Amino acid sequence: MKRIFSGVQPTGNLHLGNYLGAIRNFVRLQDDYECIFCVVDMHAITVWQDPKQLVDNTREVAASYLAAGVNPEKHIIFNQSQVSAHAELGWVFNCVSRIGWLNRMTQFKDKAGKNREKASTGLYVYPNLMAADILAYKATHVPVGEDQKQHLELTRDIAIKFNNDFNVDLFPVPEPLIFGAATRIMSLRDGSKKMSKSDPSDYSRITMMDDADTVAKKIKKATSDPHLIPGADVLDENGKLLDDARKERPEAFNLLSIYAALNDKELSDVLGEFEGKGFADFKKSLTDVAVTKLGPMGSEMKRLMDDKSYVDSVLKQGADRAAKLAEPVMKEVFDAVGF
Ligand code: ADP
Ligand code: NA
Repeated sequence: MKRIFSGVQPTGNLHLGNYLGAIRNFVRLQDDYECIFCVVDMHAITVWQDPKQLVDNTREVAASYLAAGVNPEKHIIFNQSQVSAHAELGWVFNCVSRIGWLNRMTQFKDKAGKNREKASTGLYVYPNLMAADILAYKATHVPVGEDQKQHLELTRDIAIKFNNDFNVDLFPVPEPLIFGAATRIMSLRDGSKKMSKSDPSDYSRITMMDDADTVAKKIKKATSDPHLIPGADVLDENGKLLDDARKERPEAFNLLSIYAALNDKELSDVLGEFEGKGFADFKKSLTDVAVTKLGPMGSEMKRLMDDKSYVDSVLKQGADRAAKLAEPVMKEVFDAVGF
């Protein structure tokens, strides 16, 4: 059996990076894997969340999964806090994981910033909880973006150490599933920063619920440059963008990569299509494809978010099913630990 676990935090402003880097891939995995797609609300509160907003944001993530095309009959959609196995196994893993391992996590350093003493202890042990999310279901595969690779490595280390410490063969060592092209979408205003939910500038991101006018305005305002679009000489022999080229024109190549991802094309095809043209022309085409691909999904998300009882029933049913899957695993864990 091949089982996937993945999640998105309900921290609002779901954006094109979340869609191309995560949610779209979820939809594509449905045929080949048994999937568990979580709304990770316990991860979200590692940074303070307004409780009312958290409820809405949880529905937003669930609605994004549904609107993108995840089938909630066949697969599981639920929110983390509703299945107690996450917190329980998370605690056990706090005791298996090592401080030295967590100290190496670069995302904690980024997220905690300069004032590390003021970060929550939850933010620090977040990777242990992520390991619990995955292993409570003995998931075998985890789709990960660039930013989560290190955390999955830690999950693997925790699985191995638990098995060794308690002399059991309980947890599988989960494999990463890494997707091509668009794993890292950058801000529309500053090509050195990731597109993110928390960027103070609304113009830095296209959200999954932006209407056509807003998408057009954001793309129009997106930072680009006055140079023409280059040809294939900026790619290496595998069709990958050369680092120097990206460094020189990060915003330009970000927009070209977004276009490629939305069209399911390689960057080389896009350069072939637009070589020698300027960004004014290109932005029109980018707007067209963004509106075509995101528009119907955004409308469906809005419709679902107005149908709270439906979304809540999907989450409830998903939590019941998830709890049933985790129950025998937790029994094994408690036996192994001596609880
Ligand atoms: P965020 O990083 O926006 O706060 P999450 O941490 O909830 O969002 O991430 C949800 C998923 O979206 C993760 O799989 C993450 O890798 C992916 N993701 C987030 N930002 C981007 C981005 N700019 N480009 C590609 N994927 C992204
Ligand atoms: Na992230």
